Amino acid sequence: MIDPERLPEHVGIIMDGNGRWAQKRGLPRYAGHVAGAQVFKTIAYYARDIGLKNLTVYAFSTENWSRPQEEVSRIMKVLEEFIDDALNTFEKERVRIRFIGDLSVFSGTLSEKMNRIVDVTKDFPGLTLNVAMNYGGQHEIVHAARKAAELASKGLLKPEDITPESFGKMLYFDDCDAVDLVIRPSGEKRLSNFLLWQSAYAEFWYSDILWPDFKPKDLDQAIIDYQKRNRRFGGV
Ligand code: FPP
Repeated sequence: MIDPERLPEHVGIIMDGNGRWAQKRGLPRYAGHVAGAQVFKTIAYYARDIGLKNLTVYAFSTENWSRPQEEVSRIMKVLEEFIDDALNTFEKERVRIRFIGDLSVFSGTLSEKMNRIVDVTKDFPGLTLNVAMNYGGQHEIVHAARKAAELASKGLLKPEDITPESFGKMLYFDDCDAVDLVIRPSGEKRLSNFLLWQSAYAEFWYSDILWPDFKPKDLDQAIIDYQKRNRRFGGV
C-alpha cells in the first residue's frame, strides 16, 4: 500500500514505448500515441486522486522533431485533442495544467489553446500537471544561463549571487522543484534529456511495460518502491 504521508512531492514520467506498442499490433506508430494519450489522461487524473502535487510528463522532446513529419503532426494532433478535452472538462477535473519547454515554436490555434488551458486551470490547488513539449533539459539549463548572463551584463546580477537555488529559479518554472521519482516504462534506462537539473537526486523506476499498457497499479508500484528507498542526498 502507498503511504499517503510520504508521497513523492514531484514525479516525472517519460512516456515511452508508444511506437513499439503499435508495431507489435501491426498498427502505424501514431496509433501508439493515440493509445498513449488515453493512458496519459488516466494516469494524470489518477495521480490527482491519490494526492500527488506535481507530475511532469515528457510528451515531446526538442529532438523529437527529427521524426517523420507525419508522426510529428499526429503527436501535435493528439496534444490538441487532449487540450480540447481538458477545456471541456477542466471544471470537473480541477487539475492545474502547464507546459514546460521552449513554447515559442507553437503558434496559431494550438498556441491559443495551450494558453487558454493554462489560464483557466491556473488556480486549481491540487495536482499541477506539467506537460513537457519541445522540452530538453540541456535547452532549459542554457535558457536559464542566458537569463543569468543577461542580468549580469546589465549589472543586475553578480556572479557570486548565482547559486543552485537562485539559478534553479531561472529555469522554465521557478516552482518546478526537484523531482523525487522518475518513471520510465518500455525497458529503456536513460534519462533522455528529461529534467536534468531537477533530477539531481531523483530515484529511478524502470519497467518493461510499454506506455500504452501502463496502469494506475503500475504508478502505485513505482511509489511503493520509491517509499522503500533510502534517500541519502549524498549524506550517510
Ligand atoms: C515516446 O514513445 C513517446 C512520444 C515521443 C510521444 C509521447 C506522447 C504521448 C504519450 C501522447 C500524449 C501526448 C501529448 C502530446 C499530450 P516512442 O514513440 O519513442 O516509442 P518507441 O520507443 O516504442 O518507438
